[in-house]
Amino acid sequence: MFDDVAILITGGTGSFGKKFTEMILNTYKPKRIVIYSRDEFKQDNMKKEFIKKYPDDIDRLRFFIGDVRDRNRLERALKNVDYVIHAAAMKQVPACEYNPIEAIKTNINGAQNVIDASLNCGVKKVVALSTDKAVNPINLYGGTKLVSDKLFVAANAYSGLNGTVFSVVRYGNVAGSRGSVIPFFENLINDGVQCLPITDSRMTRFWITLEEGVELVFKALTESKGGETYISKIPSFKITDLAKAMLPGYKLNEIGIREGEKIHEVMVSIDDSRSTYEYEKHYIIYPNFEWWNFEKYFTEGGIKVVDGFEYNSGTNVQWLDAQQLQNELLNLKK
Ligand SMILES: NC(=O)c1ccc[n+]([C@@H]2O[C@H](COP(=O)([O-])OP(=O)(O)OC[C@H]3O[C@@H](n4cnc5c(N)ncnc54)[C@H](OP(=O)(O)O)[C@@H]3O)[C@@H](O)[C@H]2O)c1
Repeated sequence: MFDDVAILITGGTGSFGKKFTEMILNTYKPKRIVIYSRDEFKQDNMKKEFIKKYPDDIDRLRFFIGDVRDRNRLERALKNVDYVIHAAAMKQVPACEYNPIEAIKTNINGAQNVIDASLNCGVKKVVALSTDKAVNPINLYGGTKLVSDKLFVAANAYSGLNGTVFSVVRYGNVAGSRGSVIPFFENLINDGVQCLPITDSRMTRFWITLEEGVELVFKALTESKGGETYISKIPSFKITDLAKAMLPGYKLNEIGIREGEKIHEVMVSIDDSRSTYEYEKHYIIYPNFEWWNFEKYFTEGGIKVVDGFEYNSGTNVQWLDAQQLQNELLNLKK
């Protein structure tokens, strides 16, 4: 599927982009992978890292400086590109709250630029990364990602017969990713604390690894027909169990919920469930447009979820306990 094709990743120097590039190079021989992002320093670091890991494949990588806010630059980078993964985003909740217009320019205008440039350059498929925070959003980061998701789904109406196929992949906080709870607890434990601060002891989250996020993007690139939002079936965990797994015998220090934080993560809302189908390892939310032709776009094998279904980390059927989390944490370090 990815041999001899050209792929562009916006935000290619980020955690997702690097893991995606690694997993593609481990298995395939793409014609080129274009890393599209703003900071030359991060690009240079990535280049050095990949020269060491993939000396025979380094010529397949192109490091392209550019901002998703700049459509002309995107069009330059997208010449003869087959697949686009849109990962570039402002994603820190407090930064988006304090700089709302900057979040809008990158996450919303940037998304529309990726769509327009992909349509203009005849890209075959585009997959945009979404987040649980886009579901019933309570902060600007989630709000901008909700708009971005809607732009990508609606873009299929403009692509025409055999034109660009747009879909969305949604997942929650990646285990161990920058700014997430695992490195936060790790730093405190290294500082010798006996108490781990927990905002609310009822809090639950979904557990997804970066590899699982990339696998879901592979699935979307392979199977999407246009308009789908893909969501993995993954386990949940209690934040208190994570604290137990990382610091056995820890003392609970409940500090109160932060602004913009939810007790549970939601991937499929009750309202979205009306057009959600369950597959063996994932869910797909299909669009609800008049132009959207179910016969043409539906992927076989899905069973409609029951009315009132919600995919919520608090009511999930699959769970990781403290012991299982300890094993998962060890796997992350490998
Ligand atoms: N990490 C998670 O836990 C998580 C969970 C759910 C969803 N997601 C979604 O997954 C995507 C990727 O996340 P990540 O964890 O890989 O993020 P990340 O590590 O913070 O990387 C972000 C990337 O985007 C680039 N970027 C930022 N603004 C840009 C702009 N205006 N134009 C071009 N490039 C820009 C950054 O490079 P420069 O700064 O050099 O431009 C960097 O390469 C995001 O869309 C995020 O919303 C992430």
